[in-house]
Amino acid sequence: MDISSSTVSQTLPLLKGKHILITGTTGFVGKVMLEKIMRTVPDIGGVYLVIRGNKKHANAGSRFANEIATSSVFEHLKLNSPDYFNDFCDNRVHCISGEISEPQFGLSRSEFRALGGKIDAIVNCAASVNFREELDRALAINTHSLRNIVELSDIAGNIPVIQVSTCYVNGFNKGPIHETVVKPTRGELTQHKSGYFEVCSLIQELELKIADVHSQYQGKELKSQLIDLGIREANALGWNDTYTFTKWLGEQILLKSLRGYSLTLLRPSIVESTLNEPSPGWIEGVKVADAILLAYAKEKVSFFPGKRSGVIDVIPADLVANSILLSLAEQFKAPGNHHVYQCCSGGANPLTLGTFIDHLMAEAKENHGAYDKLFSRRPRKPFIAVNKRLFNAITLCMSFVLLMASQTLGKLGWKRSLKARRNLDAAISLSTIFSFYTEPEYIFRNDKLINLAKRMGPADQALFPVDARAINWEHYLRKVHMPGLNCYALKGKSQTATNRKIVATSQKQAA
Ligand SMILES: NC(=O)c1ccc[n+]([C@@H]2O[C@H](COP(=O)([O-])OP(=O)(O)OC[C@H]3O[C@@H](n4cnc5c(N)ncnc54)[C@H](OP(=O)(O)O)[C@@H]3O)[C@@H](O)[C@H]2O)c1
Repeated sequence: MDISSSTVSQTLPLLKGKHILITGTTGFVGKVMLEKIMRTVPDIGGVYLVIRGNKKHANAGSRFANEIATSSVFEHLKLNSPDYFNDFCDNRVHCISGEISEPQFGLSRSEFRALGGKIDAIVNCAASVNFREELDRALAINTHSLRNIVELSDIAGNIPVIQVSTCYVNGFNKGPIHETVVKPTRGELTQHKSGYFEVCSLIQELELKIADVHSQYQGKELKSQLIDLGIREANALGWNDTYTFTKWLGEQILLKSLRGYSLTLLRPSIVESTLNEPSPGWIEGVKVADAILLAYAKEKVSFFPGKRSGVIDVIPADLVANSILLSLAEQFKAPGNHHVYQCCSGGANPLTLGTFIDHLMAEAKENHGAYDKLFSRRPRKPFIAVNKRLFNAITLCMSFVLLMASQTLGKLGWKRSLKARRNLDAAISLSTIFSFYTEPEYIFRNDKLINLAKRMGPADQALFPVDARAINWEHYLRKVHMPGLNCYALKGKSQTATNRKIVATSQKQAA
C-alpha cells in the first residue's frame, strides 16, 4: 500500500487497545497530550499516569482528581462529551503514586513488575525544567530517572520509549541543527560507534563534586553552591544551563541502554500556548519568553539582551502533543528503531526575535485593556533588545548610579530599596536565566518530523498536525497566545467572549 496516499488514519488503529504509561501529566505538555489522547484516540486501551504525591494531595489519584481532571484543558471535552469523559477517567485512567527518580519509581519490586506487565509503551514527559536547578536534583530527574524508565521498558518486554527531551540539548552548537545525536561543543567525551556518548564516568565525577559540595555547605549556601556547580559543569562541556545539560545526559543513557530497541527522542523547542486544540491559546505556567513579557507588562523590564535578527523558536503545545502521538504510532508500526525528532518552527517558519517583540508590542499598545493580568495601563516604554555587552554595560552604570542614590537617601533616613533598583535586579536576573534563548545562533530543523507526518498520510496530518508552517505568527501571538496567557496561565478575567472570537477567527483562518 502506498502509505502517503492513505486517506484513513494509520495512527488510530496503531494506538487502538494500547496501554500507555505517561509521566509528567500534572505539567503543561503532559496535560495537553493526555487531553488529546482522550479526545482523539477513543479506542486507546488506557493510560497509566505516574504522579508523585505533593503537600496538598498525598497520592496520584487525589492529584489526578484535583489537579488534572479539573483543569480547563478538559473544558471542551467535558462540555461536548461529559459521559465519555467521566467514563474514561473512571475506567481507563490508572493512577500510580510514584516518584520516577527513585528506584522502581519508589514502588515495591512486585508492584513495579506488575506495572510492567500492563503497559505497551512509555511516554516520559516528567522533568525539572528549571534552567538553574541544583545539580543533584536536576541529575536525579532528568538523567538518573531514565535508568528506571529503561528498567520498566525491559520488564515490559522492551516496549517503545518516547522521551520528551528539548531542542536545547544542542547546547552551544551553532547554525542549522538537525535531528541527530548531539555532539558536545566542549570537552572530550568518547562517542560510541553506534552514536551515543559514553557519560558514565562523567556522571560519576559529577556525583563526587556534588558530594564534596554537600560536605562543605548547608542550607541556602548549599543550594546556591549546587546551582553554581550545575551551571559551571554545563558551561564547561558546552551547555548554557543545568537543565539542558542534564537532559542531554538523559538522552545518552537511553541511547546506550536501549540499543536495538524502540526509542524516540522527541525534542520540542520553546513550548507555548496551543494553536487550536483543545482551544486556541491554552497554556499553563509562565516560562521563558512569557516570563520576560510579564516583567515588561509589569513595567519591571524594558530592555533585555537579545538579537532581533535571531530566530526564536516557539512551538504551540498541541503540535508537540501531536508529534508525540505520531512518533508513538510509528514505534508500534516498526519497532526496534531509534528516531530523533525536533518539534520546532525555526527551520520551516522562522520567527525572528524582532518580529516577535513587534507583534507583542503592537497588541499591547492597541489592546492593553483586554489583558487585566498583564497590563494595568498602556505600555509607556517600548521593549528594546540590545546586545549582551551593551546590556551589561548599561546595567553596570545603572547599578553604580543607583548605589550612589541609595547611599545618599540612606543618609537621609530612607530605608526602603528603590523601585528602580528592584527593577534592575529583575532585569539582570531574567537575563542571567534566559539571555541564551533570546540571542539564538542556531536554527532547529524538523525535516524528519515532517517526513514522518508525510509517511503517516493526509488523514493523520489532519488529525495530528505537527507542521509549524500552519502558523500565522501575527495572528498566533496577538490573538491566540496573549489572550491565552492572560486567561489560562494568569487566570485573568474571563475571556469567554474573547475566546469564542478567537476560536471563530482560528477556524476561519484554518478554512
Ligand atoms: N515547556 C517547554 O517550553 C518545554 C520545551 C522543550 C521541552 N520540554 C520538555 O517537555 C516536558 C514537559 O515540560 P513541561 O513544560 O510540561 O514541564 P512542567 O509543566 O514543569 O511539568 C513537569 C512535570 O514533570 C513532573 N516531575 C518533575 N519531577 C518529577 C519527579 N521527580 N517524579 C515524578 N514527576 C516529576 C512534574 O510533576 P510535579 O507536578 O509533581 O512537579 C510535572 O508533571 C519536559 O520533559 C521538558 O523537558 C518543555
